Amino acid sequence: MRTKVAIVGAGPAGLLLGQLLHKQGIETVIIERRSRDYVLGRIRAGVLEQGTVELLERAGIGERMHAEGLVHDGVEFCFDGDRHRFDFRKLIGRSVTVYGQTEVTRDLMQARDASGDVSIYEADHVSIHDFGTDKPKVRFVKDGVQQEIACDFIAGCDGYHGVCRASVPAGALTTFERIYPFGWLGILVDRPPVADELIYAHHERGFALCSMRSPSRSRYYVQVPSGEKVEEWSDERFWDELRRRVDEETADRLVTGPSIEKSIAPLRSFVAEPLRFGRLFLAGDAAHIVPPTGAKGLNLAASDVGALAEAMTEYFHERSSAGIDGYSARVLARVWKAERFSWWMTSILHTFPNTDTFGRRMQRTEFDYLVGSEAASRSLAENYTGLPL
Ligand code: APR
Ligand code: PHB
Repeated sequence: MRTKVAIVGAGPAGLLLGQLLHKQGIETVIIERRSRDYVLGRIRAGVLEQGTVELLERAGIGERMHAEGLVHDGVEFCFDGDRHRFDFRKLIGRSVTVYGQTEVTRDLMQARDASGDVSIYEADHVSIHDFGTDKPKVRFVKDGVQQEIACDFIAGCDGYHGVCRASVPAGALTTFERIYPFGWLGILVDRPPVADELIYAHHERGFALCSMRSPSRSRYYVQVPSGEKVEEWSDERFWDELRRRVDEETADRLVTGPSIEKSIAPLRSFVAEPLRFGRLFLAGDAAHIVPPTGAKGLNLAASDVGALAEAMTEYFHERSSAGIDGYSARVLARVWKAERFSWWMTSILHTFPNTDTFGRRMQRTEFDYLVGSEAASRSLAENYTGLPL
């Protein structure tokens, strides 16, 4: 088999890259190690920046997002029971769209089916070869048969645990990482959200987040120590803990119900540099991880592949290597801004083990400063609703 771009991984990064290249008439093959249903069953975040919304429109998959997505003009922060709304529209004239990553993935899979381009799910033993030469290849086993795809480029869109970054010679890669000593326990529930907008709460018992997927489906999180077991959290225990971490009015308004999904996600900051190795390009979670606090993961994945699709289009249509040569530096500049914002949001909103009273007072003072300063509020609004590329 031969194709122009072999895309490893059918998460949002891989699928969106495939769709953007398809729009440019550039053929791709997607190789994914899981099944379609498995990929669609993963519950991830769901806040889209304006730039992501526009990119999905350009990719031709904006219709359901516009029909079902919820436009939010602000978010609320709640600090030890004191709630404050940051009005993005008033501050900077921008908003975000709440539309689940699962739904973005579903729309992209449907578009892929219609495109006629090949996707191989449940591919075993995926490996990449010769990306230091101009004849890169991807090998895998499908239904017990060994296969090989020759291509011009390999796009490593295979997430944090994927094979692509792991195949780069150790000396060629620099990585930066911080692992936080806590995770997020999240539940999904078919009950109306507690508020029209998201509430990010800091409390001495830990962080909490009230989010949503639709007017009838809510997503809630509470910070838990690393190593916590999800089996130890009954729905009742979860609701009790959530109520204690938000303000009284929110706690009273909360409509609880049986969870339809419950899981714990660790928090990590991670960046790999550079993002290009010969004919291999890394994008999305394969290249970087942000803690979910700033809602940047999906948006970064989208802006990475937006830039990569542009660079590859330039290469195939204009025979220019300028785009692919500049890809890594261009994308990393934005990645680091998102890393900073996500690290900052994480630092002020969570409770850190072994912190002293000074550290806690600094978190409170940071909140008071945000609330009292128009400049600080604008900066929050700018970073939350979209980072300039
Ligand atoms: N071979 C083929 N596919 C693989 C391999 C492999 N060796 N390893 C992993 N994959 C697949 C995974 O099964 C997954 O479907 O690559 C895909 C990567 O998808 P994601 O993890 O969703 O990553 P990405 O597409 O970069 O999307 C980033 O996901 O984690 C969130 O916050 C993040 O919202 C952001 C988004
Ligand atoms: C979510 O709805 O899952 C969500 C929203 C905002 C975040 C993180 C997760 O910052």
